[in-house]
Amino acid sequence: QASSTKDILITDEHLKAFEMEKHSQFIQKYAEDKSSYEFVMTEYLRMSGLYWGLTTLELLDKSDLLQSDEIMQFIRDCINDDGGISPCIGHDPHLLYTLSAVQIACILNREHELPVEKIVGYIKNLQQPNGGFFGDKWGELDTRFSFCAVACLSLLGRLDVIDLKKAVEFVMSCHNFDGGFGSRPDSESHSGLIYCCVGFLSVTDNLHLINPDTLGFWLCERQLPSGGLNGRPEKLPDVCYSWWVFASLHMIGRSHWINKDALKRFIFACQDAETGGFSDRPGNMPDPFHTLFGIAALSLMKYEGIKSINPCFCMPEDTLRRLKVTSQVLP
Ligand code: FPP
Ligand code: ZN
Repeated sequence: QASSTKDILITDEHLKAFEMEKHSQFIQKYAEDKSSYEFVMTEYLRMSGLYWGLTTLELLDKSDLLQSDEIMQFIRDCINDDGGISPCIGHDPHLLYTLSAVQIACILNREHELPVEKIVGYIKNLQQPNGGFFGDKWGELDTRFSFCAVACLSLLGRLDVIDLKKAVEFVMSCHNFDGGFGSRPDSESHSGLIYCCVGFLSVTDNLHLINPDTLGFWLCERQLPSGGLNGRPEKLPDVCYSWWVFASLHMIGRSHWINKDALKRFIFACQDAETGGFSDRPGNMPDPFHTLFGIAALSLMKYEGIKSINPCFCMPEDTLRRLKVTSQVLP
């Protein structure tokens, strides 16, 4: 039937409560079992995996399960001569993994051990004449990298090194008539890129450039009857969009446009009852990426027992307070 909404059904077999203990065990096991198929296959994004795992454990107040000396040594081993950071030893550096590494060092309260000027130089050199940023030397350019650049520079206290006016112009050139943002000018609106663009505007104190009601309406339309959120019209719900959409709504002051009880029910149903961890949708394989974003969305709802997360940086509020790094939120 062409007119029916694409969605999933939550049944009695799905979990209805938060399995706090199981999730820290899931992350710990994932980090320790270095010969598992999943671990070996995710080498190309290891640094981000480490950020997802560490942030999850920190939100659950269990980050002492990880060895911070080992993690800092891994980061040092991934820093290249040009200042860029690789996902894993021997891979090419990229802005995505540079941000993850800086986020990790900040959460561990060890950012002073980083070669800040080298990293800052790497990011500055990726800015292009149109104001946008390459993700790495190969030249892919989209709004994800604009966010990564300013988030990373802000954490390092060096937002002043780039051409901010041009950077804002590029992000605003990706703003669409429906209120959303895409990856490049004339690309369709997508919740993941909306998070990046709203996050960019929040870091740089430019949220006045958008209409929060138009964007908020597009974002709250992402909630489906199951309570879950999708990334674009006609797509299935996915627990990571509980973060991309709900965090964006928090930044623009429209989080109350989502039915929180329904979203919570969907997020709970995405937990794996046996192994712990969250999957994208009920019944699928859990992974650290969806585990962070499920728990981070519950944190935005002030779920008891989970530390408070910042909707722009996706890092504990404690860390940002310590660093005195601020980000704008609309009333
Ligand atoms: C969906 O991707 C998500 C995005 C495009 C957003 C990615 C965000 C960043 C890279 C910024 C860094 C993030 C944090 C939390 C610090 P997808 O490929 O799953 O999209 P699909 O659902 O359309 O396949
Ligand atoms: Zn997902």
